[in-house]
Order: sequence, then C-alpha cells, then structure tokens
Amino acid sequence: MSKFFALIPAAGSGSRMGSELPKQYLSLNGKPMIYHAINTLYQSQLITSIFVVLAPSDNDWLKYDWSKFSEKLIVFLCGGTTRADSVLNGLTTAKKRNLLDASDWILVHDAARPCLTSIRLEKLINDLADDEVGGLLAVPVADTLKRSNTKDRIAHTESRENLWQAQTPQMFRCALLTHALHNTMNITDDASAVEALGLQPKLVLSDAYNFKVTYPQDLALAELIIQKRNNP
Ligand code: CTP
Ligand code: MG
Repeated sequence: MSKFFALIPAAGSGSRMGSELPKQYLSLNGKPMIYHAINTLYQSQLITSIFVVLAPSDNDWLKYDWSKFSEKLIVFLCGGTTRADSVLNGLTTAKKRNLLDASDWILVHDAARPCLTSIRLEKLINDLADDEVGGLLAVPVADTLKRSNTKDRIAHTESRENLWQAQTPQMFRCALLTHALHNTMNITDDASAVEALGLQPKLVLSDAYNFKVTYPQDLALAELIIQKRNNP
C-alpha cells in the first residue's frame, strides 16, 4: 500500500516580505508561521511523516519547541537555491534514508501557506489517491486580468476562462516527482515540472483562504483568519 508523506520546503529567505527573519519564522498568532502548516498536516491520520527542508545555514528552527509533532516530524538541512531544488534535495535525502518508496505519495506544501484547512487537505488526498498523475489545490481566477506592455499600460485584457491559481499541497508519487524535478529548470511549483513531461495534473478546487503569505500585508490577513478559526 502506498503511503502519504508531506514535504514542506522552508529554505527560502522571504525577500518580498522584506524582514530580516525568514518569513517562515515570522510570528503568526504567537507561533512561527511554519507551525500552522505543520499542525494541519500533523493532524491528518493519512499522513505518515512530515519532512521539513531547511536551509543548511538555518539558525532559527532550534529556537522553537517542536516536541508536540515529534511523532511525525523529520527535519533535513538540505535546502537549495530555489524552491524546486529544496523539494528535490528533500526527496533525495528521504530516499537515501529509506524513508520513502517510489510509489508513495508526496504532498509538497509551502511553509508560507498557514491557513490550509484539514477539510481541503483530506479532499485533495481523497480526490487523487487513485489518480494516474496527481494534482494540486487551486482556485479559479476571480479578477479581470490585464496584460501590460513594457510601460505599465494595458496591452490587452486576458480571458480568465479556464484560468486557475495554483496553491499547495501539490501531490505526486515520489518517483514521478523526482524524475520531473530532475528534468526541469525555472519553475515555481511542482506541477509545472510534471506538466513538462507532457502529463496533466488534476486541479482540485480550493478556496482563497489557502493563500501564500508573500508581502507584509498578507501576514495580518493570515493572522485574522487563524484568530477567527480559534475563536469562532
Ligand atoms: N523555498 C525553499 N527554498 C528556496 C526558496 C523557497 O524551500 N530556495 C520555500 C519557501 O521557504 C516557502 C516556499 O518555498 O515555504 C514558497 O516560496 P516563496 O513563497 O517564494 O518563499 P521565499 O522564496 O522565501 O520568498 P521570496 O520569493 O519572496 O524570496
Ligand atoms: Mg521565492
């Protein structure tokens, strides 16, 4: 039987956030941001282990108490220069340590998406567990889309028909994802690597709450969402 593993790439610096502390450690409701993603993944009965991929130079992880998650949490100090490198290095390390089989499912989830809910996570797993390719959580684009010319003037309006915003988790079998990531460059998500093999990952409907904390104002929004959930 294939198992399900989560892999959280958390080796970025958060340059668009503009803070000295890497954004995965910024305080969100009294916890480092990455805590919230780990917590949701940890609570799923379906997930065997959670691999966290940190930068080799990480100085912050050990400042926090992770003992609540010790049953499932496995930390690797093998992050790379891009997100794709961090994911691939994490997969390679897990395989070297015999923690993974080729047919196991990997759910790659950004440390910077703290508002993932258990409901969306379980739906993703259930929708894809028998899928040939795998897939990801995503939301249909809501806004009207403008293509600019080089001078920040509108060149034309893009149709938003069939356009989706990719989120995470992105769920693929270990062997396929490893092969795909070995064969691509300049990608910002896992699905793009699989698409480059000519495959068509499945889009599983998500919601806007599972947004990625990228800019300073996103942090305040994530905090409001988490506070509301804790005190409905
Ligand atoms: N990530 C990673 N290794 C990298 C770059 C990014 O593990 N070399 C991780 C981030 O820590 C984050 C996820 O990939 O959990 C999504 O990336 P993003 O939101 O772009 O985070 P950063 O790269 O840290 O931010 P920025 O692009 O603003 O620098
Ligand atoms: Mg980045």
